[in-house]
Amino acid sequence: MTQSKVAITGATGFLGRRLVEKLADRGTPVTALSRNPEAAAARFPPARFPQVTVVGYDPFDPATIAPALTDASAVVHLAGEPIAARWTPEVRAAIRKSRETGTRALVTAIAGMSGQPAALISASACRYYGVSDSTRFAEDRPPGPSGDFLTDTTHLWEAEAQRAADHDLRVVILRFGIAFAITEGGRARLERLRPFLGGRIGSGRQWVSWIHREDAVDILLRALDTPGMQGAYNATSPNPVRMSQVTDAFARVSRSLVRLPVPAMVIRQVLGDGATVVLDGQRVYPDRLLAEGFRFRFPQIGPAVYDIFS
Ligand SMILES: NC(=O)c1ccc[n+]([C@@H]2O[C@H](COP(=O)([O-])OP(=O)(O)OC[C@H]3O[C@@H](n4cnc5c(N)ncnc54)[C@H](OP(=O)(O)O)[C@@H]3O)[C@@H](O)[C@H]2O)c1
Repeated sequence: MTQSKVAITGATGFLGRRLVEKLADRGTPVTALSRNPEAAAARFPPARFPQVTVVGYDPFDPATIAPALTDASAVVHLAGEPIAARWTPEVRAAIRKSRETGTRALVTAIAGMSGQPAALISASACRYYGVSDSTRFAEDRPPGPSGDFLTDTTHLWEAEAQRAADHDLRVVILRFGIAFAITEGGRARLERLRPFLGGRIGSGRQWVSWIHREDAVDILLRALDTPGMQGAYNATSPNPVRMSQVTDAFARVSRSLVRLPVPAMVIRQVLGDGATVVLDGQRVYPDRLLAEGFRFRFPQIGPAVYDIFS
């Protein structure tokens, strides 16, 4: 169990918030790096999070990053511009820059420290393998073909993170699938939509490599705690499903009355090129985690979706 300090970029995000909670529950000191320290401090009030220190930083300036990493035995890198958005040119540039330049700045900061952390645990994404309707992607598969914006972004992002190994850090790269959980604000929205959930999304045949957030965060903790973990791991449930199986599960659990289909055309109108996140998929398996004995709390989509609603 890690009790020495963990520094986290993106600690205020969807995965980071839950990671901070779990680290706080076991008494691990945390430094949360945030572009907006006031908002981050409000998210981690001292009464609930006595071991959490919030530090403001510029994710592209190593000089502001290095001091925040002082005394950290490990760094968890989760910062990045959200991809589930309409991809304007500015958003595309921010998605790329936050992963490539942001990770480079982090590793540059680490490289320049005297008392460096021993490990870098960096997020990546399943899109690393590209998009396919049929291929089974485990960690032994090569990177997907270049030309796809997200695939290229993951390649650049991982290469920057991997540079930390040149400075003797243990580097773990977690290629996350789409993480499911419900936030407090999200619960209210989900309740409002409940009668209409479960309609087909696009063709419904696209693969969804998904993971319950509890498993995603337990994998982050395992990466922190396990000196033998190194290199790239798929962080997805062992049972990827077609999108229609996801929407069926939502329909069953929400007892939806009307299953309104959402055609691909509508999704493209709303998200532009970002529609690819929803409409194109890949079938990814966590072979390395399973071989190393990780037990998923939510390996099947039905119980995972049920848990979100309960
Ligand atoms: N959640 C998923 O389903 C999923 C799936 C695959 C991969 N991933 C990857 O895993 C990482 C964590 O995911 P998440 O869902 O927790 O992320 P998230 O909630 O979207 O964001 C994480 C944090 O990144 C910081 N951030 C946002 N925009 C940024 C920018 N332009 N430059 C630098 N920092 C920025 C924000 O923290 P501050 O404002 O406090 O600085 C934010 O709280 C991300 O890199 C994501 O791409 C997630």
